[in-house]
Amino acid sequence: MPKLTVVDRSGTERTIEVGNGLTVMEAIRDNGFDELLALCGGCCSCATCHVHVDPAFADKLPAMSEDEDDLLESSDNRDAASRLSCQIDFTDDLDGLKVRIAEED
Ligand code: FES
Repeated sequence: MPKLTVVDRSGTERTIEVGNGLTVMEAIRDNGFDELLALCGGCCSCATCHVHVDPAFADKLPAMSEDEDDLLESSDNRDAASRLSCQIDFTDDLDGLKVRIAEED
């Protein structure tokens, strides 16, 4: 199974295996990272699934929708690597991806 490395807010890294058909948010949430609230359950309406993605994978990520862009704009912690993890389907192409859970807004 493809692997995803998650860095939590304390800087601790953990690599998890991700089953087919999950989003990055679901993979993080299902592996017990309770810092990632994902309050809206993946409907792109809360921004509590904000992560910073390793720039090496930038061109493998799905394009950002206008809704995602607008929601990220509401975060004080947005940077060039910011994405909403519920909007990223974890495909085999993303094997080895590393994300850092964003600071709390
Ligand atoms: S879980 Fe709410 S925007 Fe991603």
